Amino acid sequence: MAADTRIQDPWETRPRKKLTSLLEWRILEQHFQEIRDLHLRELFRDDPGRAERFSVEDCGIFLDYSKNRVTDRTMELLFSLAESEEIGLREAIEAMFTGRPINRTENRAVLHVALRSRPDAPFQVGEENIMEQVNSLPGIKSVLNKVCEFAEEIRQGKRCGWRGDPITNIVNLGIGGSDLGPAMVCEALRPYSDRSLTLRFVSNVDGSHLAEALQDLDPARTLFIVASKTFTTTETMTNAISARKWLLASLPHASAENVRTALARHFVAVSANPQKVAEFGLDPANQLFVFWEWVGGRYSVWSAIGLPIAIAIGAKNFLSFLEGAREIDDHFRHRPFRTNIPVILALLGIWYINFFGWRSYAILPYSQRLARFPAYLQQLDMESNGKQARLHPAVGEEFVTWSTGPVVWGEPGTNGQHAFFQLLHQGTEIVPCDFIGFAQSDYPVPDHQAKLLANLVAQTEALAIGRSLEEVETELKEQAKKTGQPWRQDLVAHKYFPGNRPSNIILARNLDPHTLGKLIAIYEHKIFVQGVIWDINSFDQWGVELGKELAGKLLPALADPQAPIASENSSTKRVIEWIRRHATR
Ligand code: F6P
Repeated sequence: MAADTRIQDPWETRPRKKLTSLLEWRILEQHFQEIRDLHLRELFRDDPGRAERFSVEDCGIFLDYSKNRVTDRTMELLFSLAESEEIGLREAIEAMFTGRPINRTENRAVLHVALRSRPDAPFQVGEENIMEQVNSLPGIKSVLNKVCEFAEEIRQGKRCGWRGDPITNIVNLGIGGSDLGPAMVCEALRPYSDRSLTLRFVSNVDGSHLAEALQDLDPARTLFIVASKTFTTTETMTNAISARKWLLASLPHASAENVRTALARHFVAVSANPQKVAEFGLDPANQLFVFWEWVGGRYSVWSAIGLPIAIAIGAKNFLSFLEGAREIDDHFRHRPFRTNIPVILALLGIWYINFFGWRSYAILPYSQRLARFPAYLQQLDMESNGKQARLHPAVGEEFVTWSTGPVVWGEPGTNGQHAFFQLLHQGTEIVPCDFIGFAQSDYPVPDHQAKLLANLVAQTEALAIGRSLEEVETELKEQAKKTGQPWRQDLVAHKYFPGNRPSNIILARNLDPHTLGKLIAIYEHKIFVQGVIWDINSFDQWGVELGKELAGKLLPALADPQAPIASENSSTKRVIEWIRRHATR
């Protein structure tokens, strides 16, 4: 790795002024008061060039952000916030791309971008070429080669189980970043996948998840990928142990030799912890696809964690997925902020969270194939930016006094329209949304795609423009005239759509591996930009530790009804006592 350059790096060490005390911020606050009541209906009516000015197209991605509560002045002010020297966003971007240890609380570089960097192009960190160094560890290229080679062997039926049958079932055992990325991508890229293979993803420690995944599989044709950066995660290790038992129970003779062969042919690991892999009984030299500390779990889909993806869609498509992300890396690093898609999305998010106070944010892919995309982004965003400790505080200012990461959620359209869109249109909460769509379907069902896209566009217009009280009244009166019934004034309020509800539209031609790589990278960088502006560390996740620790302490009391309950909390005790009384049938 590159030398630790924190000492020479002013961005890394200097305390930052409070965000809310920056001049750029205060001007934005003032501006917010001036424009908070402007309605998108008027903004569009008075400005025919709005959609053209508030849109960007690059790398095959089209972003229309004209249906946001912004004026030219708002965007100017947001861009000057992004350019603020005090915030140092440009320095931060360079710090990430040059491998500085920007994850300061864990003293690590953040180099998921290196995983998709051109294998033949040097990835400079100061004076060093990371790619070379990492390649000899073994590194990015060799692990990527191993992943691709292994995937192709499975796809060609060259990898066999203990009975000699080719492996046709792949079960990924992992959770969080070791599950959500590959599971989401495999589902999204089904049209590109080998249909003769069965891929399943088991994450939950709830035994039903594993049991259901395995119930119709032939162990002799099943490969388990134990995916865990740490190789200590309770859920994954519990599932791996049960999977090992399931496999070994299927052997006709459990001799030491048979067990060895079965484990060698039916298990591989993806991890940054070779020692733990060995302790589990796998051979790190032959059964481990390594990745590195500098790849965050939720940023690991580009690493060997992507092995199930490579198996499903093949090496060529997997490389195309990485290349898509790389295109966005170049865009993010080199485009000016005003045409920079991740930066624009980040600034709009900040505008709503910190000025309008809207802290909920919906991801609405109009693609059934992206059904797991909202869940994937939920981890990416909420585990990255759900924080309040500042990264560059002055003494006594360790915590933010401004809002940070939003609550991220969503469902594919059009399903969501028949579930929660009622609230989006008429509820008292305003939820900024990202609508994601594709001009073409990869399936031969053209009339479906037209209907899907008509809904996407219609929803954004309905949210933005709404339907005024006058319009509703006119419509009700016309209807009454037609039917000869008296008109129902009491319905006006119920049929009124306030509008002025913001959304982005993100479009691409079709959802191929390349495009999916781009989409994910856009959100990764957007989240990073927000983290830098909020002055938090987007790359650690201390907030998940306390619950894990307490679960470990309480486990004995739930596993053994006689064991003492390791808690002083009256609710915890009472709940555990109740469970103990009802635990046996
Ligand atoms: O508990 C949170 C977390 O650490 C995530 O950040 C991570 O993606 C997930 O658990 C799984 O961790 P591992 O890959 O080490 O099993």
